[in-house]
Amino acid sequence: MTDSVPKRSGLNSLFQPRAKGVLLVSLALLIIAVVAVPWPLQPSAPTTRRFTMVSRQFEFEPNTIQVNQGDTVIITLTADDVVHGFFLDGYGVKMRVEPGQSQTVQFVADKSGKFRYRCSVSCGTMHPFMLGELVVGPNTTFGRAVALIGVVAIGVTVYLWKFPLREPGESTTEVRSKK
Ligand code: CUA
Repeated sequence: MTDSVPKRSGLNSLFQPRAKGVLLVSLALLIIAVVAVPWPLQPSAPTTRRFTMVSRQFEFEPNTIQVNQGDTVIITLTADDVVHGFFLDGYGVKMRVEPGQSQTVQFVADKSGKFRYRCSVSCGTMHPFMLGELVVGPNTTFGRAVALIGVVAIGVTVYLWKFPLREPGESTTEVRSKK
């Protein structure tokens, strides 16, 4: 009742002229982060990835392999103890390996996502739990482009919303009249 002058809210002070620079710097840093920070499996051009995999009771080693979509995957499997199998969900890749021998499969990882691989030969009590996972990451070039466009679009929108463009000689009375 004593003072009717509205206080400037914290949100408003965030967009004072000085905040203009902060906003621009933040946007620039965000763009640099999207472009420069190493994402998992940096090279995005399709390449050939070779894996040497060991099967034993009751695991695969490695039990996770990661590639990019479009990569050619070559897996060479050996068995340490007894006969094991390898079946890759989603791709239908299958092999069977005897101890002391090795088997190789080759396929193109054309589907992105996570795919289980499992032992397909009954090899003991824990056979059903002899599992692994193939992770096929999306094409990172495409992902980066989408992320970059998103960041720039949001940044430009916020900037224009808070700091509308004005012709050089244009009067600012419109702005003053609002206050
Ligand atoms: Cu190894 Cu079943």
